[in-house]
Amino acid sequence: MSFPERLASCASSVEAYLAERLAGGTTELDAALRYAAKGGKRLRAFLVMEGAALFDVPREQSVIAGAAIEALHAYSLVHDDLPCMDDDPLRRGQPTVHVKWDEATAVLVGDALQTLAFELLADPTCHADPAVRIDLVASLAQAAGRRGMVLGQAQDIAAETAATPLDLPSISTLQANKTGALIVWAAEAGGRLGGADIAPLTTYAMALGRAFQIADDILDVEGDAAKAGKRLQKDADAGKATFVSLLGLDGAKAEAKALVDAAEAALAP
Ligand code: IPE
Ligand code: IPE
Ligand code: MG
Ligand code: MG
Ligand code: MG
Repeated sequence: MSFPERLASCASSVEAYLAERLAGGTTELDAALRYAAKGGKRLRAFLVMEGAALFDVPREQSVIAGAAIEALHAYSLVHDDLPCMDDDPLRRGQPTVHVKWDEATAVLVGDALQTLAFELLADPTCHADPAVRIDLVASLAQAAGRRGMVLGQAQDIAAETAATPLDLPSISTLQANKTGALIVWAAEAGGRLGGADIAPLTTYAMALGRAFQIADDILDVEGDAAKAGKRLQKDADAGKATFVSLLGLDGAKAEAKALVDAAEAALAP
């Protein structure tokens, strides 16, 4: 199978699993939750499921951890789009939750998606061994929280009003927290589920996560808004330092290519 086929296969399994877990509720919150949990590339679930497959973890288990990271990620996007953060009207080609419903609903949908992630990881169907489940729960809490994604979001917001644009080391730290931490968790999760050494997956994912954020910054400059399904040109409009503003478009592309090569090399073992 090609990469797009494998990605689509993981995406449809995760889509179905989340739809099943969220089915049935009849409140507006339930409807908004189902809406926010849908769609996206499902790259993080792909990393979980393909990582797990390296260690022969059954797909019925890895899809649950894949759904957990996608629920956590979806929460981060719903909150990221709020007026008090990036104030974005469009996500995954659809109106954002606060536009379609209201801000209170968007805050609560994010809260519920976050707790759903931990509910899924704590479920015995995710892994029979409670020690593995605790390891997944604790590591995701660390990746997502005040030393990980949440810190990166705070650094990102602070950068918007900083007196001078951030330099490359500061942008790199911000990225490693904002997007890197969840991508690293996703790549490591398969190793955790399979009881394997996660170190090569960590090295792989740190390079991949940085390449991913550079690609997102490039997309913001020269992407197709219809294909991206979100507003673009917003980093430049906000006067934000990004990998593109610091390295130039060609420099950013060269750096992304070098990082992908490094990520691939890390998987050799
Ligand atoms: C978007 O993430 C936000 C960033 C972390 C850059 P994705 O590009 O993975 O978004 P979806 O899940 O495919 O919509
Ligand atoms: C979002 O980063 C990162 C998280 C939600 C953790 P961005 O603000 O750059 O993502 P987009 O461009 O809105 O997708
Ligand atoms: Mg943001
Ligand atoms: Mg945003
Ligand atoms: Mg962006």
